[in-house]
Amino acid sequence: LSTTIDIFVGKETAKYIDIVSEWRIKLFREYPYLYVGDIEYEKKYMQGHATDKQAMIAIAKVDGMLAGFSTGFPLISDSEIVADVKKLVSQAGDDIADYYYYGEIMVLPEFRGRGLASMLYTAQDNLIKSWEFKHVCISTVVQEENHPLKPAGYKSTEGMFEHMGFVKNKLMINYPWPTIQHDQSIKEVNHQLACWTKSLME
Ligand SMILES: CC(C)(COP(=O)(O)OP(=O)(O)OC[C@H]1O[C@@H](n2cnc3c(N)ncnc32)[C@H](O)[C@@H]1OP(=O)(O)O)[C@@H](O)C(=O)NCCC(=O)NCCS
Repeated sequence: LSTTIDIFVGKETAKYIDIVSEWRIKLFREYPYLYVGDIEYEKKYMQGHATDKQAMIAIAKVDGMLAGFSTGFPLISDSEIVADVKKLVSQAGDDIADYYYYGEIMVLPEFRGRGLASMLYTAQDNLIKSWEFKHVCISTVVQEENHPLKPAGYKSTEGMFEHMGFVKNKLMINYPWPTIQHDQSIKEVNHQLACWTKSLME
């Protein structure tokens, strides 16, 4: 099987906005996010990428089929998603202009476990290093361990991010979204998120 990774930057991201928005809604509906997405909100959020010269969507294809993607933008952007991440970085005494934020990474279930996520991040790391960013950050949601909607055999992504060289910040941030409850009803929940950073300097 042949795998390709391509990165689309700024306006070039426009052609992937619809598909990425659909995938976000589908995959984030699952544990640990349990997010009930709205397609119009999603598209608006993704359109923000097309207006930022240094925002990106990295696309993984296997034999020409879309298999995964990863997004990102400079932390300095005014996206509401990163407002608390910025505060955290500033409080630590760092310059937010040195940080790039990876928004979400997704690989379709049938293509997982064969290195696509690592390949996406490596390609993104190389590009943002060439733009002279010094650090990259991500966030992960903290969810109840014993949630009834947690699939059997679910493996947290924390091990993967540690393996990839990210370090978890001691302080947490918060972000609210409509969340599926134990009884399948939907409620706005202010979630706790862990913030992870990785240095791009060798
Ligand atoms: C998380 C996800 C993107 C991983 O994609 P993937 O293509 O299966 O990941 P990879 O096969 O590239 O694995 C990444 C690396 O982490 C390692 N790894 C994976 N899980 C690990 C764990 N629990 N502990 C330690 N290392 C782990 C792999 O061995 C691999 O290392 P390598 O490149 O050195 O071989 C995929 O499972 C997914 O789409 N999940 C749903 C969406 C999601 O939760 N996204 C993350 C937050 S936005």
